[in-house]
Amino acid sequence: MCGIVGYIGENKALPVLINGLTKLEYRGYDSAGIAVYNDGELFVKKCKGRLSNLKEIIGGDLEDTVIGIGHTRWATHGEPSVENAHPHTNVSSSIAVIHNGIFENYMAVKDWLINDMNISFKSETDTEVIAHLIDYYYDGDLLDAVNKTVEKMRGSYALAVICKQEPDKIIAVRKDSPLVVGIGENENFLASDIPALLKYTRNVYLIENNETVVLTKDSIVIYDELGHKMDREVYHVTWDEESAEKDGFEHFTLKEIYEQPKAIYDTINRRLDDNGNITIEGVNLTSEDLKKFNKVYIVACGTAYHAGLVGRYAIEKFANISVEVDIASEFRYREPFIDENTLFIAVSQSGETLDTLQSLREAKRRGARILSIVNVVGSSVARESDDVFYTWAGPEIGVASTKAYTTQLIAFYLLALKFGELNGHLDRSRYNELLDEMKKIPDKIDEILVDVSNVQQLASEQFNNESIFFMGRGLDVDSAFEASLKLKEISYINSFAIAAGELKHGTIALIENGTFVVSLATQEKLLEKMGSNIKEVKARGACVLAVTRFGNTEIEKVADSVWYIPEIIDEFAPVLSIISLQLFAYYVSLARGNDVDKPRNLAKSVTVE
Ligand code: F6R
Repeated sequence: MCGIVGYIGENKALPVLINGLTKLEYRGYDSAGIAVYNDGELFVKKCKGRLSNLKEIIGGDLEDTVIGIGHTRWATHGEPSVENAHPHTNVSSSIAVIHNGIFENYMAVKDWLINDMNISFKSETDTEVIAHLIDYYYDGDLLDAVNKTVEKMRGSYALAVICKQEPDKIIAVRKDSPLVVGIGENENFLASDIPALLKYTRNVYLIENNETVVLTKDSIVIYDELGHKMDREVYHVTWDEESAEKDGFEHFTLKEIYEQPKAIYDTINRRLDDNGNITIEGVNLTSEDLKKFNKVYIVACGTAYHAGLVGRYAIEKFANISVEVDIASEFRYREPFIDENTLFIAVSQSGETLDTLQSLREAKRRGARILSIVNVVGSSVARESDDVFYTWAGPEIGVASTKAYTTQLIAFYLLALKFGELNGHLDRSRYNELLDEMKKIPDKIDEILVDVSNVQQLASEQFNNESIFFMGRGLDVDSAFEASLKLKEISYINSFAIAAGELKHGTIALIENGTFVVSLATQEKLLEKMGSNIKEVKARGACVLAVTRFGNTEIEKVADSVWYIPEIIDEFAPVLSIISLQLFAYYVSLARGNDVDKPRNLAKSVTVE
């Protein structure tokens, strides 16, 4: 959730820290801070709010410093405030710590520090406890003190520590929170995410769970939890800094919506061989494996979960395998029927969502084969899976997921077709037909994006609503869930989605004069039924937008406004119907004056439970 950055080398540290934090601000943005070593002392500067506030309070006196750590926070323990912002220090301010994650048993340690060690705390955070604990163990060897400290910690964390007695090093530890080291020449870097490093290097080490790393200006040493030195292959990042820039768009969210045709094109076309066969590098399932699976279990959170709902439909339809879908935070706490005959699919843009990761581990313990659909290469979910389908959507910076979602849908379609081919459920002509349809999707999205004036117009009329309803049937309910989530997270309008057939079982009581209802009607066999549902809400005074398939002009007789998606088979309609609704959420958010890329209370990568 929080962003971590570190620098040690022969160049100035401050620009690297600030630039890195700017790239990481999407991970958390309620406060920010840095700690640097200068002239025999550690200096800590921190502030509430955005990074721009931090830049204002960093004075020129620290300009020449060559070692430092920086943090941008998403509050877990204690409200956003200067006191709770990281870095945190020990009493004498000789040790500074930044932390991403949660130190679960911090209260017991804090009580002990207060009662037995007489320490008085400056903040409400679990992180400050870490700084005091390192101090307690410090006896001239920072690495040893950090190791002893993490032995006492339960939970998930990525930590970075500097100390005034040993100003030639940064020590960092990772457990269930991402950490990467950037390799430079006479300088080295540390970050929670690759985009923070791209301005300086594309060569990185991916730090594994329970590893500690010691960075000096000219060395990087990685240790496992037993203290053994570890070899690590250099991972070369292929995408560049520009792909993590706004590229002339006002917001990352808008840019990422417009990138969907290309992202989808890449996701499909890099998986087709010269004979039109789907070959998914990283997924090594055979027809024997497929015959063995009596169930597929899809687990994810938020938008990725919504992709899983569509995935269920595709796998059941094209491969005839029974599928269950669950929210990761719920899955973990039930007794799922999972064994070695189960294919478990984890879906995650970041690959670091803790609930998804823990669900994956639970499924693994029960013997399932693990396949993940992941965007961030080398992330934890990907590394712990048996098979990985990378969506290759490129970096997604906007907190609201857009291109990651549509490429997840494509990943499911490709997997479903592949499974159907492998287990013999799909004959060759149907398989080819479906693939040909899929290949047309990028152009059809382009058609939608060419003129969005109707979306802008409706957003300008509806942005002041207090609540908005979404409804649909079949695959359209899944899209309705996603469209509603998109709207609420960036506009803060109270929106929710419902299966249209469920309306009359209670929810219709909420419809009154002027209630704005978005009605998805793309599924051929359900068009008439949706028409009736629209009439039901219209009869109670609702104002209805219908999103429907090209040619369904009948709907104009009942809905107040209609947006058409280009012709497409029912199964693939969710990829098209969501595009205008993502844009609708964007323009409503903009009209309300919200920070679209960094909506309140959210963070891009949820590495806490
Ligand atoms: C919504 C959104 C979240 C994420 C969810 C899972 O726009 O972005 O709902 O989809 O937090 O994140 P990942 O996919 O990184 O596991």
